[in-house]
Amino acid sequence: MSIVLNGKAIADELTESVALEINVIKKTNVRFSPGLAAVLVGGDAASKVYVRNKKRSAISVGMEALDYYLPESITQNELEDYVVKLSEDASVDGILVQLPLPGHIDQEKVIDSINPAKDVDGLHPYNVGLLVKGQPRFVPATPAGVQHILVKSGIEVSGKHVVICGRSEIVGKPLGLLLMQRNKGANATVTICHSKTKNIQDITSQADILIAAVGQQNFIKAGMVKQGAVVIDVGTNRINDSSRKSGYRLVGDVDFENVKNVSSAITPVPGGVGPMTIAMLLKNTLESAKRKLNL
Ligand code: GUN
Repeated sequence: MSIVLNGKAIADELTESVALEINVIKKTNVRFSPGLAAVLVGGDAASKVYVRNKKRSAISVGMEALDYYLPESITQNELEDYVVKLSEDASVDGILVQLPLPGHIDQEKVIDSINPAKDVDGLHPYNVGLLVKGQPRFVPATPAGVQHILVKSGIEVSGKHVVICGRSEIVGKPLGLLLMQRNKGANATVTICHSKTKNIQDITSQADILIAAVGQQNFIKAGMVKQGAVVIDVGTNRINDSSRKSGYRLVGDVDFENVKNVSSAITPVPGGVGPMTIAMLLKNTLESAKRKLNL
């Protein structure tokens, strides 16, 4: 039987510590006002919810939150110009371009146009390079959140076999790099599985810590999990639920009800990794604002 890891409580604690630090710095430095700019292109419903929640949380900790809703029809050049303007705006410490972008937009070129010093999402090649080199500056929020949950829950990572299912630029790849660092909360042996991995069950069942980030409901079944493993579910899949006012509910990538009987600890969805993402984004934005003022 598993311990259910309360990501929401861990995230709330981190968010409170960010709010406290902003408050303290503001008392001695009237110029201190961290600014987070979120850019959303088009009308994707899930992305709108994410951006609204990020804005609400940023304001709640004493940041300036700016959100920009740009039309689906925006051109590549217009979007890049927009991001460059935010990159040059002294009141902006963190820039987040909500992904995915519409199909006609070259996502990588847009990310390249973010000032790396304000790339609180950690997706710019410069920041990815720093992570690869073991000198992380901005670590993408979700991987940083996963590591924070493990550390705060007292789960030893050093020397453990971590198996990550999913090789995305936002979660799988940076999470693998993060957990193999020569650092506290890391030093793991990391295996990354993906859609072309053969006999995936043979690999997942060797994991001391199994992390699911594939975007597929019930991808991880009990038979894929070693007895006593720690299971972290990064999935946020929307499924129809007519009993909800919204018409949907969120489920993860893990068959929670069955896997929890095999694992020793597991994150739920919702209330697990999800809340950590926003908390880490706020932390990155605070760090960026402090760095600007050499604090
Ligand atoms: N879309 C889903 N997750 C994320 C994230 O962490 N950052 C950005 N920019 N877009 C996302």
